[in-house]
Amino acid sequence: MHAQAHEADAADPSVADLIAARPHLTMHPMDGLVLEDVPLNAIADALGTPVWVYGAGTMRARLAELQHAVADLPVHIHYAVKANDHLAVLKIFAHGGAGADVVSEGEFLRARKAGIAAENIVFSGVGKTVGELRLAIGEGVGQINVESAAELAMISTVATALGKTAPVALRINPDVDAGTHAKITTGRADNKFGIPYSDAAALYAHAATLPGVAPVGIALHIGSQILSLGPYRAAYARAAEMVRALRAAGQTVSRVDCGGGLGIGYRDEPGASPTAFAGALRAAFGGLDVQLMIEPGRWLVGPAGMLLSSVVLTKADERFAVIDAAMNDLVRPAMYDAWHAIVPLAAGNAVGAVRPVDVVGPVCESGDTFARARALPSLAAGDRVALLDAGAYGAVMSSTYNARPNAPIALVDGARWATIRARQTHADLWAAESVPTFLDGRIG
Ligand code: LLP
Repeated sequence: MHAQAHEADAADPSVADLIAARPHLTMHPMDGLVLEDVPLNAIADALGTPVWVYGAGTMRARLAELQHAVADLPVHIHYAVKANDHLAVLKIFAHGGAGADVVSEGEFLRARKAGIAAENIVFSGVGKTVGELRLAIGEGVGQINVESAAELAMISTVATALGKTAPVALRINPDVDAGTHAKITTGRADNKFGIPYSDAAALYAHAATLPGVAPVGIALHIGSQILSLGPYRAAYARAAEMVRALRAAGQTVSRVDCGGGLGIGYRDEPGASPTAFAGALRAAFGGLDVQLMIEPGRWLVGPAGMLLSSVVLTKADERFAVIDAAMNDLVRPAMYDAWHAIVPLAAGNAVGAVRPVDVVGPVCESGDTFARARALPSLAAGDRVALLDAGAYGAVMSSTYNARPNAPIALVDGARWATIRARQTHADLWAAESVPTFLDGRIG
């Protein structure tokens, strides 16, 4: 039997192209890869690898670009905390004027701790508990996006007991396929999310009669990493149609929460364009006299973060490069077959002939693979690489599988940088564990 050919994908962009497409990155001949004005090697020298690095200036610039694109529309941006929930990141967006979209008590508390007022928080999610509702309503949350009749009843009970009125939006399921990965599409009728389109009008009318709830509008979110406007246009047209129908039935509808989902360019595909997206909002809702909200996560933070790692060794004639980051750190490649750019930190490593390399982590699963047959310049033990565009759904999805402590996080801001999360210690890993005394003295 012949060994299977291991050929590099000719379509892989070169290291130079990858860097050229990302304005926050430069390759300096001496310092190597630089984020904003900080050489990434300085951070890896100080904190070791693996280490996450976020660019504060990059996040601010992206928020400003999105705000500029929607400036003529009545849009409020609620950053989707799930994409990257670090307090420093939340602070950056809070300072930039964004509110937050949260899906759990933990995210709500993080947003509050970062200084985001409760009235600027939208609480989404398909299974909010009574405890979560009590907290959010008690603090005066800006809006709860309701996903079912059962949840509406829970909100009414909790709010009434607290003597409050909770502003709610009904999350409708527009039954639109966002054309994205099956695990992150949410707007189809067979997904668990939202209220079926055909049930929404009756539930809205019911909400208007319930004590403790004030229906203020509708919400929708069709999926994530969306790169074409078609699904947005289709979903927003249905949302606008719903607003008209509800108003025709005598309901008050003052808000439409248009969700998140704007995609970024991971490989060489262009990311979603904020101006084109704003055009879709304008087309659907321009004449409707509604307050709009959007909940972007990935688009704001994805390109601004990266995971630095060192090559532990190469094997099988350099076919495999085993690096010290793994699927427990960045799970997206293992979970969604996601493509993340891998760029050497040293300028000298970024040029020269490329060869097909499987970049893998040390975890004992074949799925612990960051790239297969990636066209990369030759890498040797000790060389460092950056896995790019890992600012969204990166550190937040980490685990400690294989008893691997969470990696530290550094924040760059122009020429400055600081550690914003220390490396977890091994003792931290078992700090909350105990071994009951009845296990003592047992043999076998
Ligand atoms: N709003 C709602 C109701 C959501 O469910 C989500 C994401 C967002 C906003 C933000 O979506 P974004 O703008 O970031 O696309 N872990 C996956 C992505 C899961 C997205 C879940 N919901 C990944 O790594 O690709």
